[in-house]
Amino acid sequence: LTVGTDEVVRHFTARAAKYDTSSAWCGDAGLVNAIVDLASPGPADRLLDVACGTGLVSKGFAGRVGRRVGLDITEAMAGQAAAHLDELVIAPAERMPFPDESFEIVVSRQGIQFMDLPAAIEEMFRVLAPGGRLVLVNLCAYGPHDSAEYFEILRLRNPVRRHFFLPGDVENMARTAGFRHVAGHRYVSIEDVDAWSDNGAISGDRREAIRNVYRSASAEFLNLHSVEMGEGRLVDHMLFIAVSAIKPDGAR
Ligand SMILES: C[S@@+](CC[C@H](N)C(=O)[O-])C[C@H]1O[C@@H](n2cnc3c(N)ncnc32)[C@H](O)[C@@H]1O
Repeated sequence: LTVGTDEVVRHFTARAAKYDTSSAWCGDAGLVNAIVDLASPGPADRLLDVACGTGLVSKGFAGRVGRRVGLDITEAMAGQAAAHLDELVIAPAERMPFPDESFEIVVSRQGIQFMDLPAAIEEMFRVLAPGGRLVLVNLCAYGPHDSAEYFEILRLRNPVRRHFFLPGDVENMARTAGFRHVAGHRYVSIEDVDAWSDNGAISGDRREAIRNVYRSASAEFLNLHSVEMGEGRLVDHMLFIAVSAIKPDGAR
């Protein structure tokens, strides 16, 4: 079953109005600062934020780079990013309308799970200048012991998600695409599951199904995610992996 671009755009158009408050991680300054640090920005650098959404990551690069370009396929999301960008481009990440070697930094947070892979990562490699930095940030399962339950939760929460990651998966894709100095960095975000699942684009049935996965989850899952249940609140410690990588000099 392949999810089409139209379905992705429809999903994020439904979420656009409340996107910025739909997860704790969205506006988490600690996560954005970690991304900025990993990108080692310089004052003349050209930044590309792939799947920029409402611009929450680009915003963190204010005053840190020479130029900020955002790319996304959902106008209702990306229209909100304009204040944080020098240029906004509505186009798919798999076919970016930029010449080779146009940017010193490419970042993408919570974007590649909706894309054709590895095509989108190969495009990121193409548009980066030699020596350019890539930072990809994604929710991941902790490992094989929570992945079945966690991927079910992620699938229920976002029906247009196409890919699910374990630690090491994104690192391997980056290496295969030609990146070097590839490293994964862990970041844990504390999410109130009821707030996180109320994303404006899924039914109450799906939100209840998510709660049921937690209620019947294995001890291993509950332990890895340090799940807190009680007093009407359900809290999950969700793992992000930020992958940093460099396009080697002389690479094409
Ligand atoms: C979960 S949001 C992330 C937004 C932003 N990066 C952030 O961290 O807040 C995912 C975004 O990916 C965009 N997107 C999904 N598939 C895409 C594709 N193939 N090309 C470009 N953007 C895409 C969606 O339109 C949406 O705005």
